[in-house]
Amino acid sequence: MERLQKYMAHSGVASRRRSEEIIAEGRVRVNGKVVTGMGFKVDPGTDKVEVDGKVISPEQKVYYLLHKPVGCISTTDDPRGRKTVLDYIPESSPRVYPVGRLDYDTSGLLLITNDGQLTNLLTHPAHEIDKTYMTEIEGKLTSRDRNRFCEGIELEDGETAPAELEEIYVSDAKSIFLLTIHEGRNRQVRRMCGQLGHNVISLKRIGLAFLKLGELDEGEFRHLKEREVQKLKQLGSER
Ligand code: URA
Repeated sequence: MERLQKYMAHSGVASRRRSEEIIAEGRVRVNGKVVTGMGFKVDPGTDKVEVDGKVISPEQKVYYLLHKPVGCISTTDDPRGRKTVLDYIPESSPRVYPVGRLDYDTSGLLLITNDGQLTNLLTHPAHEIDKTYMTEIEGKLTSRDRNRFCEGIELEDGETAPAELEEIYVSDAKSIFLLTIHEGRNRQVRRMCGQLGHNVISLKRIGLAFLKLGELDEGEFRHLKEREVQKLKQLGSER
């Protein structure tokens, strides 16, 4: 049970104090009956609360796992009119934001949510959340390259933390490997590859912490399961 004015504040009606005034003005109905007294409590799960005849409810937290396609940007709007990741989220969704970003040319796993606290936890550098990228580069991945990835590569904003690498395909013309990094610097994988003299052909994030992209097609999303949300929250607070 929650105090009515608190429920109203959580629903974005007004501050708690202002909500008390709105209640006193007789503008609030609970299950069809006007409530004017203070101290009234509502059950957020079952009670219907109306303010000036409009049903209100606290903002639900939503968590989407999107397979971001190549060719859209990871912000909520673009002055240049390009597609954004929000174009793939239902219009009926509460206002949401991407957790971190993927480049325009990068595809793969992107979390999108209105849970600012979780976003902060997951994007804070101190939490070192693993991110795994399917990386396709021009040229041969040499053993020297492998060692550099795993030991650290000097970039203009400092040396990268050791990464993990799993080879998938190597030829003189191109190489494909999984690269797991623990940081989230801007264009980090592309810059690491560039530093070793390799152009990136394609880059796809297939893992974030324990989450996997799985079978989702480009442009498709799924909702995170409650236990996945809880596990993510623990990840952030464990360190
Ligand atoms: N590293 C990159 O270079 N680009 C991304 O989008 C993500 C990681």
